[in-house]
Amino acid sequence: MNNIKDRVQFNSSADTYDDDFTFSNIGILQRKRVYYWLNQIDFFSTQKKIFEINCGTGYDAEQFHEKGHTVFATDVSDGMVTYAKEQRSDEINFETQSFQQVAQDSELSNYDTLFSNFGGLNCINPNQLFDFLKGVSSHQKKGNQLILVLMSKYCLMENIYFFLKFNFRQINRRNTNTGVEVNVKDEQVKTYYYLPEEIAQLLKPNYKIELIKPVACFLPPSYMEPFFKKHKKVLSFINRLEHFFGRFTFMAKWSDHYIIVAERK
Ligand SMILES: C[S@@+](CC[C@H](N)C(=O)[O-])C[C@H]1O[C@@H](n2cnc3c(N)ncnc32)[C@H](O)[C@@H]1O
Repeated sequence: MNNIKDRVQFNSSADTYDDDFTFSNIGILQRKRVYYWLNQIDFFSTQKKIFEINCGTGYDAEQFHEKGHTVFATDVSDGMVTYAKEQRSDEINFETQSFQQVAQDSELSNYDTLFSNFGGLNCINPNQLFDFLKGVSSHQKKGNQLILVLMSKYCLMENIYFFLKFNFRQINRRNTNTGVEVNVKDEQVKTYYYLPEEIAQLLKPNYKIELIKPVACFLPPSYMEPFFKKHKKVLSFINRLEHFFGRFTFMAKWSDHYIIVAERK
């Protein structure tokens, strides 16, 4: 197995992550789109045991808990896990675990769903991702669910943004397999972008793909928050575009994030 580096990132952003992303105008709308798709697959209709990876500050874990699900939430960052334990319900189990540890955790077989929101898996390279999914599939049972929200190699809104800034070199910045250094609160986070079809291809031998949809094909990436904070009407219009065009699967690869739902065969 390739070493899924336990390099602890996101520690310095833990305390400000909710303000910077979770409760930002863009973050709220993007997360609503994730929940829209979860509702479409009746995710909330029956109580589930959910194993969450890259849980960050535990916002989703708390939403799921409040809706009656049982959640075990993990993240590699001690800073994130400490924050989540302090801020969220005591009834949720938070634990520091890297993807590599999760992939070797036979406890996974006791959970109905493995959930990963907002690009945690974009922090590992293609070989590591292959090993991670292989490990997870070896523990999950027939009928178990995988729900992953990832960042794509193309992003329409980002392309428009760089085009308008005459920054043509950046337009294709995500489209590489060698990773891109992204600045997160002064930490350099190596980020690997994946097309929905690349993930589907990896999952195909062991999973039935149930759904692939855009999460943010017109909603912009979160770094555009300062602009849209001042132009909320524009963001609200864009959100309406998202509701219309976000139904088209072919837009997933052009989106900042997309959701993929798969069932273990
Ligand atoms: C963009 S945040 C997403 C947080 C949260 N899921 C959300 O919806 O807001 C990405 C998270 O992935 C976690 N992460 C990065 N590399 C990881 C790894 N190798 N193992 C486990 N978690 C990792 C980071 O610590 C961070 O909390």
